[in-house]
Amino acid sequence: MRLTKKMIAMALISGMVLSTAACGGGSSTTETTTAATEAAPAKEETTAAGEAETTAETAAEAVEGKDMSEVKVGISIYQFADNFMTLYREELQKYLTEELGVKSENISIMDGKNDQGEQMNQIRNFITQGYDVMIINLVQASSEPTVTEECNAAGIPVVYINREPEADREQAWVDEGIKATYVGADARQSGTYQGEEIVELENKGDADGDGVVRYIMVQGDPENVDAQYRTEFSVKALTDAGVEVEELVKMRGDWDQTKGQEITANALSQHGDKIDVVFCNNDAMALGALQAIEAAGRKVNEDIYLVGVDALVEVVEHVTNGNMTGTVFNDYFGQAHTAADKAMDFVNGADVDNVYMVDYVKVTPDNAAEILEKIK
Ligand code: BGC
Repeated sequence: MRLTKKMIAMALISGMVLSTAACGGGSSTTETTTAATEAAPAKEETTAAGEAETTAETAAEAVEGKDMSEVKVGISIYQFADNFMTLYREELQKYLTEELGVKSENISIMDGKNDQGEQMNQIRNFITQGYDVMIINLVQASSEPTVTEECNAAGIPVVYINREPEADREQAWVDEGIKATYVGADARQSGTYQGEEIVELENKGDADGDGVVRYIMVQGDPENVDAQYRTEFSVKALTDAGVEVEELVKMRGDWDQTKGQEITANALSQHGDKIDVVFCNNDAMALGALQAIEAAGRKVNEDIYLVGVDALVEVVEHVTNGNMTGTVFNDYFGQAHTAADKAMDFVNGADVDNVYMVDYVKVTPDNAAEILEKIK
C-alpha cells in the first residue's frame, strides 16, 4: 500500500527520531513529563498486589475497547492556502482514516483563514458539538492560553501542531494536569542545516570571492518561532564556522511565494551582484526568490546561492537539477502521524508527554533524488 510504503521510507530517511523536550524548539527548559496525569490509574498506590493488577487491566481494556470509528476529531489549520500545511493536512486526514480507523465523517477540518477570531469560533463550535479531541494549528501561538483554558474546561484534550506555544505554557500543562501537548520540529535544527548547506560549499557561500558572505533573509511570519529560529540559526552556522557575513536585507514574507519573489526582486535591484546568498525561511518563498533571481539574469550555484526549508517536491527537483542550492525536509509525515497518535492516546486515556519533536533532514544534491522518490 502506497501510504505504508511511504511511511516506512520516511522513517528510514529521517531515522524517525521522535523525542520529547530534549531537543525541543523553544522548550529546551521544559521537563519531559506526563500531561495526562488523571489517565494513569496504574500509578495509584495500592495496598494489595491483586488490586494493582486489576487497575492495570482495566486501563488496558479501556484502551483496547475504544471504538476509533466513533471518535470525533476537530482540526483547525491556520490557513489552507499554505503549501506546507496543505501537505500536512492531507497526510493527517489520510492517516487518521486509513491507519487509525477514524470515520471521515467524524473528522472536521476547518480553514482558520489566517484569522485568530475565525479560528476561535471554530474551536468553540467543536466544544459545543462535543468533539472528543482537537488538533490545532494556531493562527497566533499567543492565543494558546485561551484555547487551552476553554478546551480544558470542556474536558477536551488538545494537540497543538506546527506553531509552538511558549515553553512555560508547555510546562504549565504538566504542572496543572492539563491534557494538552505540542507536536512539531525544532526550527533551530532546520536553520542550522540551511547554514551548513552554505558553509559546506567549496567557497563557503562567498560567490564573488570578496571575503564576505552578503545575504538577504526572507522571513516567514516573525511571530512564529520557526521564522525566528531559522533566521537566527542559519546565520549562526556561518559565523560559527568563522565565515564573515553581512546582512543586506531582512524582510517578512509571511511564508508566501509572491512576497518571497517581491522581496528578492527588490533586494536584487538595490544590491545587485553584492548578494551572495538568499536565505528563505521556507520553500514557498524560495520558489518566489528563484523567479526573481532568474528574472534578474543571475544563476543559482554559479553567482548566487539559494536555500529554503520544507522540501516541497518542486524545490527538491530544483535541488536535483542544480537550480537551488538546498532545502531541509520538514517531515510532515512524522509530524502528522505523531499528532494523530497522540490525539488518540488522549482519547484512550494513555499517557501523553507535553512536547514531541520530529527531526528535520538536510536536502542537498547528494540525497535530493532519494528524498524525491520518497515524497513524490
Ligand atoms: C513551514 C512553513 C509554513 C509554516 C506555517 C513552517 O514550519 O516551514 O512552510 O508556512 O510552518 O506555520
